[in-house]
Amino acid sequence: MRSKDQRLQGWPLDLRSLRAAGIVLPLLFLIAVDLLRHTIFFGQLHTFSGFFGTYTVTALAVVVFSFSIFSFITKLQNRIVDQNRQLSALNDIAKAAAAKPRLEELLEASLDLILSNMKADAGLICLVDLEREEHSAVSHRGFSEEMVRRLQRAKFGNTPIALKVVRTGQPVVWEHVFEDPQVAERTRREGMKSGITAPLKSEGQVNGLLAIASRAERHFSSTDREFLEGIGGQLGMAIRNASLYEQSETQNRELSALIAVGKAATSTFDLGELLEKSLDVVIELTPADAAEVWLREGEELALRCHRGAHREAFLEQTRFQVGQGFPGIVAQRRETLVVHNLPDDPRFLRQDVVKAGFHTFCALPLRYQDKLVGVLAVAALSPEAIQEAREIRLLESIGEWLALSIESTRLYQQVQEIAVVQERERLAREMHDGTAQLLGYINTQTMAVKRLLSSERLGEAQEELTKIEAIARDLYADVREGILGLRIAARRQDGLLPALREYVERYREMSGVTVELDAEADDKSLKLSDAVEIQLIRIVQEALTNVRKHSKASLAKVSFQRSSGDLRVTILDNGRGFDLARLPSTGWPRFGLQTMRERAEAVEGTVNIQTAPGKGTKVEVRVPLLRD
Ligand SMILES: Nc1ncnc2c1ncn2[C@@H]1O[C@H](COP(=O)(O)OP(=O)(O)OP(=O)(O)O)[C@@H](O)[C@H]1O
Ligand SMILES: [Mg+2]
Repeated sequence: MRSKDQRLQGWPLDLRSLRAAGIVLPLLFLIAVDLLRHTIFFGQLHTFSGFFGTYTVTALAVVVFSFSIFSFITKLQNRIVDQNRQLSALNDIAKAAAAKPRLEELLEASLDLILSNMKADAGLICLVDLEREEHSAVSHRGFSEEMVRRLQRAKFGNTPIALKVVRTGQPVVWEHVFEDPQVAERTRREGMKSGITAPLKSEGQVNGLLAIASRAERHFSSTDREFLEGIGGQLGMAIRNASLYEQSETQNRELSALIAVGKAATSTFDLGELLEKSLDVVIELTPADAAEVWLREGEELALRCHRGAHREAFLEQTRFQVGQGFPGIVAQRRETLVVHNLPDDPRFLRQDVVKAGFHTFCALPLRYQDKLVGVLAVAALSPEAIQEAREIRLLESIGEWLALSIESTRLYQQVQEIAVVQERERLAREMHDGTAQLLGYINTQTMAVKRLLSSERLGEAQEELTKIEAIARDLYADVREGILGLRIAARRQDGLLPALREYVERYREMSGVTVELDAEADDKSLKLSDAVEIQLIRIVQEALTNVRKHSKASLAKVSFQRSSGDLRVTILDNGRGFDLARLPSTGWPRFGLQTMRERAEAVEGTVNIQTAPGKGTKVEVRVPLLRD
């Protein structure tokens, strides 16, 4: 605050020269008076008028001199008082800033302190956006609302004083409002006569403006300027801190938005659900009031999902040709398109959306590698929304996530479809080659029995009928087990073990074989993919069917063991076993063991059978567990 130049306002000398003058001048004066008395006025020295004149001049000189000295001291005193007051105001502002209040609160409180300190009538603090060359009033006293409103996102170019302060980084004083061409007309209309505009700076960069004005013409001293410069440093730093804080908050918000979309996008393979969840996150975490995803279908774009406000309006048109409407244009150019004046943009074709009051629309391509998957679009009612480059960057990052998830959902769907087709083929083959052949056999044998009966060969007919009966019984059991298996597989939402337990329960009733189900791992820790669960149930089912059909066992055991990333399921029976290398001929095609292996291989698992005649059979299935 203390300047090296100690010259006081209105005084041509600095302190040191004054001190010298205070000693030299009285001496010079006394010498001059004495010289005059002994030269020019020597003759009148002893007259009354001469005597009186000399002393009058001396007395007058003493009075003038003392008056000047005292006036100087008073000014000096005032200056010190002013400086003290300003120092204490600065101190107050520094203390307030240290308490880290919201920036607006700090600026409000500081403006009050500055105005009362400088005895000014009006004050204004603006934040400066150097990138956009704009300034916006954030705190004001004594100016009309109209003027403050005009100072929202106002270009410096239109305010010469603001421009000068930002360019030079120095305060600009305007003491005679009518003579100063820099002063804006609106300031004159506010009735202000004098003022000063000072920069708020941090690290040499202007990030705000502080304007002080008074209704009467006044002088702003160098102390005032110094005071405002000091304040400019304090508030400039507070503005910088607030903007850094806001930046890091925004980054955090953007990061959590990305994480949230990532979570939503990877939480499901259902495309509809995935889009709904992701768009809900977009609406929650960005200024968008509505969001939609268009998917490319050949040369068209189809609206696949809409979330947020005014759904009906957005559904006015749900298909666009590539090149047509906003989604079509974005699909064609493969570039982000943002507008804030929807009502005036002839390229936007959905009038209901305009009528609903939307002004901002941002559409961006969803690309996976070089392929255009679709278009993500967000809309906002306010024309002010989505103005910043980083908001658009965030939407583009969300778009990348979405494109990737949409593509992986499609791939998953394809894999599922292939799996479903394979399963259908397996079932069809089992039905056709197994059940259908048996039914065919029963049919031909029934006709043979008919012939035997008509030629009254009753004994043979009886024999054939017994065979047919056994086959039909087996077939009946097979079909019932098959149906039970299909039902259980479809109802495995509750988990694998409950589904298997139910199967074993019913199997026991139907087959009369005792089955123990022993699960070492508890159900919750057994995490298998859907495909693995289905194949596993079918394998266990076939193994148990074989126990019923071939083993003559009294007891079977199904057990589960977890071993490093795999699940081992063993189906053990105490039956007669068989020679794997030489399967006894039944005259019927066999699929069970072969299909069991195929099913395990389809999910990257294996089946191992240990058996020998008279030694029972152990079927060991190994399938991969899902990684946590
Ligand atoms: N647990 C078992 N105990 C005794 N023999 C068995 C057992 N499992 C299978 N086998 C023998 O292995 C053969 C082949 O079984 P596989 O399941 O492939 O055919 P299938 O049961 O005869 O006919 P499908 O399963 O097609 O209805 C059976 O015919 C049977 O002789
Ligand atoms: Mg079988």
